[in-house]
Amino acid sequence: MVKVSVYTVPQLDDFSADKIESAVLELLGALHEEREAVHSEAEWKALRDRWLARKNGLLTQVNDTWLKAAPKEAKRDVGLRVNELKVKVENVVEAARWASLDWLKPPNDMKFLFAVSGVRLRDHATARLESERLDITLPGVKRPIGVKHPVLRVQDEIVAVFKAMGYSVGEGPEVETDYYNFESLNFPPNHPARDTQDTLFIAGQESKLARDRLLLRTHTSPVQIRTMEKQPPPVRIVIPGKVHRNDPLDATHSPVFHQVEGLAVDTNITFCDLKGTLDDAMKALFGSSVKTRFYPSFFPFTEPSADMQVSCIFCGGKGCRKCKFSGWIELLGCGMVDPNVFEFVKHNGYDSSKISGFAFGMGVERITLLKYEVEEIQLFYEGDVRFLEQFA
Ligand code: PHE
Repeated sequence: MVKVSVYTVPQLDDFSADKIESAVLELLGALHEEREAVHSEAEWKALRDRWLARKNGLLTQVNDTWLKAAPKEAKRDVGLRVNELKVKVENVVEAARWASLDWLKPPNDMKFLFAVSGVRLRDHATARLESERLDITLPGVKRPIGVKHPVLRVQDEIVAVFKAMGYSVGEGPEVETDYYNFESLNFPPNHPARDTQDTLFIAGQESKLARDRLLLRTHTSPVQIRTMEKQPPPVRIVIPGKVHRNDPLDATHSPVFHQVEGLAVDTNITFCDLKGTLDDAMKALFGSSVKTRFYPSFFPFTEPSADMQVSCIFCGGKGCRKCKFSGWIELLGCGMVDPNVFEFVKHNGYDSSKISGFAFGMGVERITLLKYEVEEIQLFYEGDVRFLEQFA
């Protein structure tokens, strides 16, 4: 059996500095020994009560047996020593508390690690406090704040131009059904117009009806139908979003890119409204001297359809390498909403004998390439800070 000697505060018959000093050392030695034996919160509480309890705690006994008993001429010195001692004892007891807390203890599987790494288990808390110590006087790590990606910035800019004209903003899913991406936009099944948008279908859906099969949307136009299903006319909405096509990558094409779609439906909407709206928008985006022109085109969901071109923003229309010496740059597809499209949302107030509308869709990367004179679309996706920081 290990013999445990329990410390008691000794009576002092001599109050000389030496004697006090050795009594203090003896007391602190005992305290340290007891503190080392503390491994749980309950043990810590017992330690605290034994040393710090007002009534008959060891510190109180020190006060009574050393200070009160000291002769007048020694009182001052003894008082100073006792006060010092009090602070020390309180600090040691407080520190023992942290070492005893259960949540500071390593989980069982870490005990092995501690054993292997030579850290004594008893010291684990100390070890953790030590390893997690923060020098709060060190200056912090400054991180650059960053800016919006150029493509997102231009997307937001386009959306803001239309918001200022009273358009609301909507969104739709990137994984879309055949119905919304094609069928309801007047692309009949197997129609050759589908080939203009090489599509990525989700695999393993052969058992589903063709219209329910999932694909990555090839344009933001499906959100036209989704919007009209939710909301009766009038509608004025722009829809920014990511789209996917099974296209090879080249300097100006990426299989993943962004579009901003627009849709306006009301009574008496004409092609004039379409031209005026887009002309205004292009002037807001590229400057007031830019001109627009509309060229016949084809989309199954608009009739008539057009491609809109802007006067070359590099040469002002004179002709240069960028516009292939034509003076014009093709920018977006648009047209009047085909009555066949309204048929799909007829039940929600879209009667093509009473209302009409226009729609347009533009590629955000394409506009960004032009606005910032970037030569390679790939640069937008590589995340190279040397490229991106030029937009800061
Ligand atoms: N969705 C067409 C495309 O991606 C663009 C477009 C939108 C054309 C709206 C007409 C009307 O090519």
